[in-house]
Amino acid sequence: MFGVNTKLALITLILTPISSYVFWTIGRRVNRRFEQLQSQFGDLSAKAQENFSGIRVVKAFSQEEDEIRAFAKVNRDYLNKAVDLAMVNGLLWPAMQFILGVALLTILYVGGQDAIEKQLTIGQLVQFVAYLQLISWPMIALGEVTNMIQQGAASLGRLQHIFEARPAITDPIDPVTTPIKGAVEFKGISFAYGQAVVLRDISFSVPAGGSLAIVGPTGSGKSTLVNLIPRLFDAQQGEITIDGIDVKRYPLPQLRRAVGYVPQETFLFSVPLRENVGFGRDTPLAESELEWAGDVSQLGKDVADFPARYDTMIGERGVTLSGGQKQRTAIARAVAKDPRILILDDALSAVDTYTEAEILKRLRGVMRERTSIVVAHRISTVKDADEILVLDEGVIAERGTHRDLLERNGLYAAMYRRQLLEEELEVDEEQSEHDKRVRTSTAPEQGAPPRARRIDEMPADQD
Ligand SMILES: Nc1ncnc2c1ncn2[C@@H]1O[C@H](COP(=O)(O)OP(=O)(O)O)[C@@H](O)[C@H]1O
Ligand SMILES: [Mg+2]
Repeated sequence: MFGVNTKLALITLILTPISSYVFWTIGRRVNRRFEQLQSQFGDLSAKAQENFSGIRVVKAFSQEEDEIRAFAKVNRDYLNKAVDLAMVNGLLWPAMQFILGVALLTILYVGGQDAIEKQLTIGQLVQFVAYLQLISWPMIALGEVTNMIQQGAASLGRLQHIFEARPAITDPIDPVTTPIKGAVEFKGISFAYGQAVVLRDISFSVPAGGSLAIVGPTGSGKSTLVNLIPRLFDAQQGEITIDGIDVKRYPLPQLRRAVGYVPQETFLFSVPLRENVGFGRDTPLAESELEWAGDVSQLGKDVADFPARYDTMIGERGVTLSGGQKQRTAIARAVAKDPRILILDDALSAVDTYTEAEILKRLRGVMRERTSIVVAHRISTVKDADEILVLDEGVIAERGTHRDLLERNGLYAAMYRRQLLEEELEVDEEQSEHDKRVRTSTAPEQGAPPRARRIDEMPADQD
């Protein structure tokens, strides 16, 4: 270019990089707004999804109008951001065209005058115009590529952050792989979530095959305590051993395979019931094992009424289970794993007392050689345990068998008396309802003989 005409070459080389710069600055703005738009779209989807899944709550509290208004607002914000993006985006190409147009105009004007004065041939002028055409695209691309590199570096930084994260709970360096029998011991365990101390100096031991129950008010640390056994968290102080070996020395998969855990919050997947029950297993469940787990957890009775029995889909694309059915599915899942240690964290709370008794009876059979740790609120669930711990604000307030604790006449005894009273009230209510029913059913126009409710007519589920 310089060989042909220095002046025109300079004009080209000064004007065209401006297009790179402009592309880069506007492009950056486009990207930023695009990201904002994406994030707003996330909010929009979340709002819609939340309202669909929570539709009953919205209706029950007649919040339809408010929710529609809130959704409209998120929508309006989305619209505004989309318009913002369209405005900047719309500016991009015209701006490019404008700068390159100015460059072309300048070359035609300056070069045209040179051509008139015969300092430049027409051919050379055409040559420059062609050069400008050739160079304009690489110049725009330069801006675009700079942008991409910048954006890529930012994204990579965020990914790197995730890649470099290390799980807090890791496998031991020198693992012990002796088979787990199930003797659990806590030695002076203290645990805190951040600064909040939740467990203080907890010590107890359950022999292999023994049973331990934990009761205590909400927030006293029961769930936290049982979470420490399969190492969902590690305690900051003290030691937890299984068969005398620190839990941290077992390979995590081995440890967690040995523990059948029914968490307080049941989580089921949108797959057939059969797969939900067989979830923790390495091998698929045989039909007989499935029936057995269904019997122990008392899920089988409900399953008999399901359209496709154990092949019934669960969740959004299938049947919706009641709270009690969900809990029993979770129990079936834990039992089907054939664990050495079974942990039930308040896993019978949504099951009626009659079904609870049935489940406990069967579990005792299953758990004869296994260790069980049961967190519960009802005395009826825990009274037969070898040892009961009463947890209060993170410390063991009382401990002993059901009988010991009643004699002690402390927190546990008070809880027992309260529950007895509640039960009596319930029985009274049932009795008076029963009387009412008897009276109406013996009314002369009905003529049907009165009938007492048999135990097998009790509701299978209280929810
Ligand atoms: N993941 C968590 N992060 C921070 N605090 C928590 C967490 N889980 C529970 N807590 C707190 O720890 C305390 C004990 O909770 P939890 O073990 O669930 O009690 P419980 O099962 O006896 O009701 C509560 O005060 C609760 O707010
Ligand atoms: Mg809990």
